[in-house]
Amino acid sequence: MQDIPVLTIDGPSGVGKGSVARIVADKMGWNLLDSGAIYRGFALSSLSRNINLTDEQDLIEHAEKLDLRFESIEGQELLNVYVDGVEVSKELRTEKTAEIASQLAVIGPLRVALLKKQQQFKQSPGLVADGRDMGTVVFPNAPFKVYLTASAQERAQRRLKQLQNSANAGNISQILAEVKKRDERDANRKHSPLTPAKDALIIDTTCLTIDEVITKVMALVEV
Ligand code: DC
Repeated sequence: MQDIPVLTIDGPSGVGKGSVARIVADKMGWNLLDSGAIYRGFALSSLSRNINLTDEQDLIEHAEKLDLRFESIEGQELLNVYVDGVEVSKELRTEKTAEIASQLAVIGPLRVALLKKQQQFKQSPGLVADGRDMGTVVFPNAPFKVYLTASAQERAQRRLKQLQNSANAGNISQILAEVKKRDERDANRKHSPLTPAKDALIIDTTCLTIDEVITKVMALVEV
């Protein structure tokens, strides 16, 4: 029996993984896993349930019960996300939520508790999975792997553009500092650090348009 194909797209904050993953999934008619949304949703759910963020055991137990649902709305670019039945799409995408998610994501056993939830997204006819450890840990046998990178300055600019519509968008130097801090934590943690899989195609997107990146990724999967 032929295995369900998986394309993994890993890379640092603000590199554009989410947009690339969504467009490629759309073109291929494949399912989409935004694993960052799982870590962010978990962070929001833990906060709303007043879970002590320094108590690993409580966090792990909560991760095993996490009630998270994604909903795709026709004509809407971003997915709607529900945590414990409540729509949290806006809150989910703030820098504050990303920061807490990044802090919790260093806990190894917590990552293990969230692993199965992510692997369940591998459904026919295929999956595009974006995150930090999709090609290295969650789907190590994926036939297609991409690692996107870009300078921190360029990523901060992209992030600012993304946040422009929200009330607390912040300024470029603030976002650059946050992006660098998160990169440092994501890349240097002990468990599943951000690093390209050995068999990933590395694409530096600093000087590329999103269409150019999509063309390179589609050339990989459309064989
Ligand atoms: O991709 P994102 O910005 O939505 O991710 C938010 C945080 O979640 C990120 O800083 C680290 C964590 N994360 C992770 O550790 N592993 C993943 N596969 C995805 C996200």
